[in-house]
Amino acid sequence: MDRLTAVDAPWNTCRRAPAVPLPFPIGQGLQFDRVTAPAELSRAVLGDLAGYLLGLTRVHWLPDAELAVLSRSGLLPEGTCDTVVAERPVPSGGRCYPSELYLATRELPDLPAGLYHYAPARHALERLRATDARADLVRCLAAPPHRPPAVVAVFTSVFSRTAATYGDLADRLRALEAGALAGQLLALGEAAGLHTRIPLDFGDEPVDRLLGLDTERESCHLVVTLSTMDDSAVPAGTAPAAGIPYRCSATEGFRTDAISADEFGAMLTAAVAGYASDLPGTAEHVAHTVPYVAVNRVRGLAPGGYRYDPASGRLEPVFAGDPLPRLAASLPVSYQAVFEASATFFLVGDVERGVPRYGDRWYRMQHIECGLLAERICLVAAALGLGSHLRCDYEADGVGRAFGLAAPAQAPLAMVLAGPPRQPRPLHVPLIPAGTRSTEARR
Ligand SMILES: Cc1cc2nc3c(=O)[nH]c(=O)nc-3n(C[C@H](O)[C@H](O)[C@H](O)COP(=O)(O)O)c2cc1C
Repeated sequence: MDRLTAVDAPWNTCRRAPAVPLPFPIGQGLQFDRVTAPAELSRAVLGDLAGYLLGLTRVHWLPDAELAVLSRSGLLPEGTCDTVVAERPVPSGGRCYPSELYLATRELPDLPAGLYHYAPARHALERLRATDARADLVRCLAAPPHRPPAVVAVFTSVFSRTAATYGDLADRLRALEAGALAGQLLALGEAAGLHTRIPLDFGDEPVDRLLGLDTERESCHLVVTLSTMDDSAVPAGTAPAAGIPYRCSATEGFRTDAISADEFGAMLTAAVAGYASDLPGTAEHVAHTVPYVAVNRVRGLAPGGYRYDPASGRLEPVFAGDPLPRLAASLPVSYQAVFEASATFFLVGDVERGVPRYGDRWYRMQHIECGLLAERICLVAAALGLGSHLRCDYEADGVGRAFGLAAPAQAPLAMVLAGPPRQPRPLHVPLIPAGTRSTEARR
C-alpha cells in the first residue's frame, strides 16, 4: 500500500494511488431541505458525505475593500491583511484541520469495493486497497456489529497540524473536533437514510495498521459505521441536516437581538438527542454531557444560568440575573462575544466517570460526545438562520464556579455561542451552490 505523503497544506494527497473523481460540485447525492427516501449508496452519496465533512467548501477571503470596513468597526485584530484560507463544513480550532477521512466500502454500482482515502483538494477518493476492508476494521471494535455495515468511516488526526500552535491543548481540540465530525456525520447519515453508529471503544493500533499509517505522524481518532436500512435496526441520529450547507462560525460577533424560546429549545433538544454508540445509555439521549446555559436574551426566559437535563428535557435555573458579571473574569478573550450572544452553551462532561472502565481513553470519548453536541447546536442555529461559534477560550474553573459545578469531575469542556449573526458572513465565500442563502429573512 502507498504511504500518504505530506504536503504543505492541511490535507493529505496520495498521488501514487489510483484516484476516483467524485461528482463536483458537492450536493449531487444528498438533499437537506426535505425528507427523501433512503439514498441508494453510490459514488455521489459517498462524495457528498466526504465533501460535507472535510471538503473545501468555503474560502475565508479578506479582500482590501472588506478589510477597510471591518477595520473601522474594530472587529479585526490589528495587522490583519491578505488572509485567504480554504474552510470546511465542520469547525476546526484555529483552522488547523488535523483530520483525515478514510472510507471502507463494499462494492457499489459505480464504485469498486476498497479502502479509500478522501483527498479534499482533489475531491476524489484515492484507492489505498482494492479489497473490502470493512470486516477487518469492525474486528477492531470492542463491540463489533453482527453484520458488516455498508461503509466504515475512519477519521485520523495529523499531529503536527495542531501541535505547533496548541501544544498541550492539542489533544483536547482534536477530540472535540472528532466529536464535531461525528455530529456532522450523524446529520448526514440521517439525510442519506443511513443508520449511523459511533463506536468509541476500539483498538487504535490495529486500525492504524490497517490504514498503513505512520503513527509518529497520524493516528485514528474516530470510527463511524454507516448501515443501509436493511442492514441493521440501529436508530438513526437526529441532528438536523438542514443547517449543513450554511454553518460557519460567527467570528464577526452577534447582534444583540433576542431569539425566540422555540429557537432556543430547538438547539437544546437536538443537542441532547440520543445516538447509536457502544456507550451505555446513549440511544435515548446523550448520557455523559450536560448543557449549562448562560441566557442573555431569549424571549420569555429570564436572563440567568440554567442547566438542561437531557433525560427529562427540563430547564432548571442555576442562578438568576445577568450572567455576565459572574462569568466576566473567566472570559478574558471571549467576553465581548458572550455579551453579544443571545445564549452561550457550556457543555459539561465528567472527565473521571469513565476512567475505571475505559482508562485514559475516556478523555477522548468524553470530548467526542461534547463535540457532537456542539456541532448539533451549530447546525440547528444555521438551519434557523442564526449564527453560532464553538470556542474554548474561557477559563474552565471560573465558569465551573459560576454554575456551581463539582470540580474536577464536572468540567465545562466546550462553549458554543448562538444568536443572530452581526455580519452576514462577508468573510466566508461559499463554494457550494446551496451555501448562498442570505440571512435577510431574520433581519
Ligand atoms: C475544538 C474547537 C475549538 C475552537 N476554539 C475557538 C476559540 O477558542 N476561539 C475562536 O475564536 N474560535 C474557536 N474555534 C472556531 C474555529 O476557529 C473555526 O471553526 C475555524 O476558524 C473555521 O471556521 P468555521 O467554523 O467558520 O468553519 C474552535 C473550533 C473548534 C472545533
